[in-house]
Amino acid sequence: MDVSAYDLLSTAVLLLDHQGCVDYANTAAEELFGNSRRVLLGESAARLLGGDDALQARFMEAVAGKFGILRQPLSVNRQGVQVPVNVAVVPLPGTPWAALVEVRIIEQHMLLERHQQLSKELAAQRETLRNLAHEVKNPLGGIRGAAQLLDAELDRHGLREYTGVIIAEADRLAHLVDRLIAPQGASLQKRRLNIHEICERVRMLICAEFTAITVERDYDASMPELSADFSRLLQAMLNVARNAAQALTEHPGQQRPHLILRTRVARQVLLAGYQARLAVVVSVIDNGPGVPPELLDKLFHPLVTGRAKGTGLGLSLAQEFVQQHGGILECDSRPGHTEFRMILPLEPT
Ligand SMILES: Nc1ncnc2c1ncn2[C@@H]1O[C@H](COP(=O)(O)OP(=O)(O)O)[C@@H](O)[C@H]1O
Ligand SMILES: [Mg+2]
Repeated sequence: MDVSAYDLLSTAVLLLDHQGCVDYANTAAEELFGNSRRVLLGESAARLLGGDDALQARFMEAVAGKFGILRQPLSVNRQGVQVPVNVAVVPLPGTPWAALVEVRIIEQHMLLERHQQLSKELAAQRETLRNLAHEVKNPLGGIRGAAQLLDAELDRHGLREYTGVIIAEADRLAHLVDRLIAPQGASLQKRRLNIHEICERVRMLICAEFTAITVERDYDASMPELSADFSRLLQAMLNVARNAAQALTEHPGQQRPHLILRTRVARQVLLAGYQARLAVVVSVIDNGPGVPPELLDKLFHPLVTGRAKGTGLGLSLAQEFVQQHGGILECDSRPGHTEFRMILPLEPT
């Protein structure tokens, strides 16, 4: 079989042997992985594609022809930048190879659709929740009021403990409901600010609250100012940083708990709905256990929590505040490295 025709394709193609290692790579694959054919030969394909153990296992099953075709979105490390790709593994029985792997870079417009879809879903969910919150608020006021009246009538101390519980719990619920309702419509109080003002405030608060954690600063000194609502961006970043600090302290691992606050200027960034010429990227990176895999898809949805005492509102609010600035909050997480990126456009369109 003549494989040189694959060199004419713009899609990266790998042919694998029965161990799942590269036996042939076309020109587009050399370019995608940033390595010559010689270097790629013999490499494990699953490793090249940067998957975890679960993927490795599934990948090998696909190579062995278990699934027909396995399709999977992944990301490839291309000169230090993670590029989102779609990977298809096609078994090749009756040929010298076990399988063909096709790696296609996910075009920007598809990413855009994903972002827009996410924004839409989140907006719809928040709307539903707010309506529900409003519905809960009124009867809750009634319950609290009635408990207070009852409390005044009761003379036995033991009974008044019960009304005390009702009132305290009603207040707790009212507080939660207020947080669900709060950000709606309220307009942004924008001013010129340097994102490092916010980073520094977050660093101070986190260091004071979590003394065991070291917080490293990795700031881009050339950062231009942006026009933004200080308190909302502070709240957003604090919610993210606090989650990281909680993950680090609640599940102490082998490594010393470490948090990095990183800022960078990015050019031509694709955000929900448009392309920004310049954007500020603020990353909060921790070396904790990572986001539980079952939460990854719905992390930014309200009321999603992995902690016994969590409300699941922190990230949903953070996402909302960032989106109010025309930006987006993203997450990449694996054990030992969790990164939340707040991307804020510098010139809103
Ligand atoms: N840096 C992180 N590392 C590990 N898990 C995280 C991290 N950030 C968020 N999470 C997970 O996401 C969940 C949702 O976070 P959040 O919306 O702030 O709600 P809450 O903190 O009230 O649980 C957390 O409960 C936690 O399981
Ligand atoms: Mg939280």
